[in-house]
Amino acid sequence: MTRYLLAIDQGTTSSRAIVFDERGQSLGVAQQEFHQYFPDDGWVEHDATEIWNSTLSVCRGALEDAGVTADQLAGIGITNQRETTVIWDRSTGDPIYHAIVWQDRRTASVCTKLKADGHENAVVERTGLLIDPYFSATKIAWILDNVDGARARAEAGELAFGTVDSWLLWNLTGGKSHFTDATNASRTALYNIHQQQWDDELLALFRVPKTLLPEVLDCAADYGSTLDKWFGASVPVAGIAGDQQAALIGQACFRPGMAKSTYGTGCFLILNTGDQALRSENRLLTTIAYRLNGKPCFAVEGSIFIAGAAMQWLRDGLRLIEHASESSVHAETVGVENPVYLVPAFTGLGAPHWDPHARGAIMGLTRDTGIGEIVTAGLQSVCYQTKDLVRAIRNDGARLASLRVDGGMAVNDWVMQFLADILNVAVDRPRVTETTALGAAYLAGLQVGVYESLDQISELWECEREFQPAMRPALRESLYAGWLDAVERVCSN
Ligand code: G3P
Repeated sequence: MTRYLLAIDQGTTSSRAIVFDERGQSLGVAQQEFHQYFPDDGWVEHDATEIWNSTLSVCRGALEDAGVTADQLAGIGITNQRETTVIWDRSTGDPIYHAIVWQDRRTASVCTKLKADGHENAVVERTGLLIDPYFSATKIAWILDNVDGARARAEAGELAFGTVDSWLLWNLTGGKSHFTDATNASRTALYNIHQQQWDDELLALFRVPKTLLPEVLDCAADYGSTLDKWFGASVPVAGIAGDQQAALIGQACFRPGMAKSTYGTGCFLILNTGDQALRSENRLLTTIAYRLNGKPCFAVEGSIFIAGAAMQWLRDGLRLIEHASESSVHAETVGVENPVYLVPAFTGLGAPHWDPHARGAIMGLTRDTGIGEIVTAGLQSVCYQTKDLVRAIRNDGARLASLRVDGGMAVNDWVMQFLADILNVAVDRPRVTETTALGAAYLAGLQVGVYESLDQISELWECEREFQPAMRPALRESLYAGWLDAVERVCSN
C-alpha cells in the first residue's frame, strides 16, 4: 500500500499543507494567507487562533486536492516560521496574547541593556545565538510583563509557551502533546545547544519560568496523534523542524560542507557542520540543523532580511517593473558590469553586520542610469549579500563545498548564474523546489518507517540545473569591492 505523508508548512505570511508520496512528489497542496498585525512601530503580530484555523483548513484542502484520506496517511510532519512566540492557557487552550512574530523589534531596548550589562558572551556560548529581539526569550518575558496576571499564572503552571510548531501540535492533539523539537528550541535563546537542554541560567537571565516550556524531542519522534475529528481518522505527528532547517533536510544537505540558501522575502543560508558546533567569530549563528536518535547535527546560519522583498519594492513601491520576471530582461540588457549598487537595508542589515540602524541606499547613479540598472542592482544585491555570508563562513574556517538553492528567486536563471559567478561556487537547483515542506515530510517518514535512512532520502534529491562559476577573478573582485564600499556607507558604525 502506498503510504502518504502530510507536511504542514506554517510560514510568516501563509499556512500551507502538501501531501507527498514516498518518492517526495507533491500530490496535493493548499495554501491560505492570514492577517498581519502591525500595532506599533516595529511590532509584528499574528492571531494564533487564525494560524491554527488556517492550518487546519489547508490540511483538509491538501488532502482533498490529493484525493487522499487521513487513513492513507503514514504520518504528519510540521515545519514552521521560527522564533514566533505563543503563550496559551493550559486549561482552555486559548492564547493569552497575539503571537509575537520573529520580525518584531519591541524588545530592542531590553536587548541593548542585556548587551550593555555584558551578557552576550554567555548567550553566544550556550545558545549559538546573539542577544537580539529576533529570538523568543525576550518576547516571552514581554508577554508575561504586559498581560495582566500572566507572570503569576505562568509561575503557577497555568500557562504554556510554544513556538508555532508546539502551538499547532497542542491543537492537533487536543492538548495532549506539549513538545517541540531541538531545531525550534535552538531559536529561543533559552536552550543550551551543547547540553541539549533548557538552560536554567538563561531562564533566570531572561526571566522565563520553566513551567511554561515544552519538552524537547528529536526532529523525528513520536509527537502524539491528531484527534479523529480533525481529519476523520487519527494520524501520528512524527516529525518537526523549523522551516529553514526543514529546507536543509529537503535539500538533503546531510554532510558537513553542504549548504542551502532559500530566497524568499529574506534569505537564509545554512551550512551543515556535522557534529561540530562551530563558534562564529563573524556574527553568524550556530544552530541545530537537526537531531535524530538523540544526536545533534550542527549548522551555521546567516540571515539576510531583504532578498525577494527588494524586487517586491522595485515592483510595488517604485513601480519600475510590473512583474518580477521582467527583471531578468533588464539584467540581460545591462549585464553584470553594472556600476549601480542597491543596498536593501530597509529594516537594517542582518548577518554578518547585525546593524538595526542601517538604512537602504542606491549608489553609483549617473545621468545615463535607467530603470534597467536599478532593477539589475536589486537582483545583484541578493547575490552580493549571499557573498557576505559565504565570506563570513569561510573566515570562520568552515568549508562550503556547494550551494543548493530554493525559494522564489531560485527560478531566475540570470540571478543563479550571477550568484555562482560572484561566489565562485557551483550553485545547484533541485527538481523539487518545495524543499521546506518536503523536509518535514521526510522527518515524519523517517519516524514511521517510510524511509530507513538519510542516505535513502539523499538518493531522492535530483538536480534540475547546475550553475558553474565562469566569471574572471578580476571582475568578480572589482564588482564585489564596489558592493563592500556601498555597504560601508550605509552602516551606522
Ligand atoms: O527565522 C524566521 C524564519 O523561520 C521565517 O521563515 O519562510 O516564514 O519567512 P519564513
